[in-house]
Amino acid sequence: MQIPLTTPDFRFRRLRKTAALRELVRETHLRMSDFILPIFIEEGITKPVPIKSMPDVYRYPEDQLAEIVKRAWSKGIKAVILFGVSTHKDDEGSDTWCEHGLLARMIRTAKQAQPEMLVISDNCFCEYTDHGHCGVVAHDDVDNDQTLMNLQKQVVLAAQAGVDMIAPSGMMDGMISAIREALDAAGFTHIPVMSYSTKFASAFYGPFRDAVDSSFKGTRNTYQMDPANAREALAESMQDEAEGADILMVKPGIAYLDVLAHIRANSARPLAVYHVSGEYAMIKAGAAAGVIDEKAIVLETMTAFKRAGADLIITYYAEKLADWL
Ligand code: PBG
Repeated sequence: MQIPLTTPDFRFRRLRKTAALRELVRETHLRMSDFILPIFIEEGITKPVPIKSMPDVYRYPEDQLAEIVKRAWSKGIKAVILFGVSTHKDDEGSDTWCEHGLLARMIRTAKQAQPEMLVISDNCFCEYTDHGHCGVVAHDDVDNDQTLMNLQKQVVLAAQAGVDMIAPSGMMDGMISAIREALDAAGFTHIPVMSYSTKFASAFYGPFRDAVDSSFKGTRNTYQMDPANAREALAESMQDEAEGADILMVKPGIAYLDVLAHIRANSARPLAVYHVSGEYAMIKAGAAAGVIDEKAIVLETMTAFKRAGADLIITYYAEKLADWL
């Protein structure tokens, strides 16, 4: 017996027939200039230290930074973001505004190694404070405005060291105004700011914290955002745009595609997404267990970020993507 079929009004499958056709009508594309490579430099080590839950990701000694930046450039990576893990910690992270501190040294080394590379600094305090918080602690909490004053010193120093873009990740209120004011007053009106504008207090940072924040025992719930809040997520990014952020960001990525799309629909600014350590570790663990196809999962994830509205993707997969694309 034949089941009577009604003729579909429109046959979507016509454009899925061949690889050439599918490519012709593809809406979202990946290219190397989409990606930003995070680099971790740790003081006091002499060999790269593997990060256990993140295969192929290392904390590198400072004297290997130049080589890493050159290698990244030769693979087609156009931008790196630098994270320092300091041994010169104090209660406010003062090494970050010291001319000979780790942050300034990393920036100078990276720029010198490959002047064409876009060098971005992650501007925070958590890897430079003895308590591990992203700013000055007072009365059992991070003091917003004291932290902003220190952040102003830090970003001016980063600009003097030759950074191409500032990326504040501490989630302090008013951080973009404070940074813009300090940079402009020091003559750095041309240095853009990529704000970690909507950054959630996420369990997906677990592997990163294991790797670099082992002394940190608290939470960041009084400054990072509640993962439950979508309206507030938009408001935070809109506030940073109003304060003068050149690029907005959502962090983490895969669990927050709705937030990305929401910000995309409400802002004309470029939008970045941070594919964080836990997201990376989960793919690696799944691939090692033989339950997923690593390359296919990564390409699909990156495509989903762009489809949801991201223009830029910060990912530990940046070098691997250079092999795959
Ligand atoms: C802190 C910081 C975090 C990450 C980088 N810098 C998050 C946090 O500890 O709250 C996470 C990066 C990652 O998980 O890949 N400013």
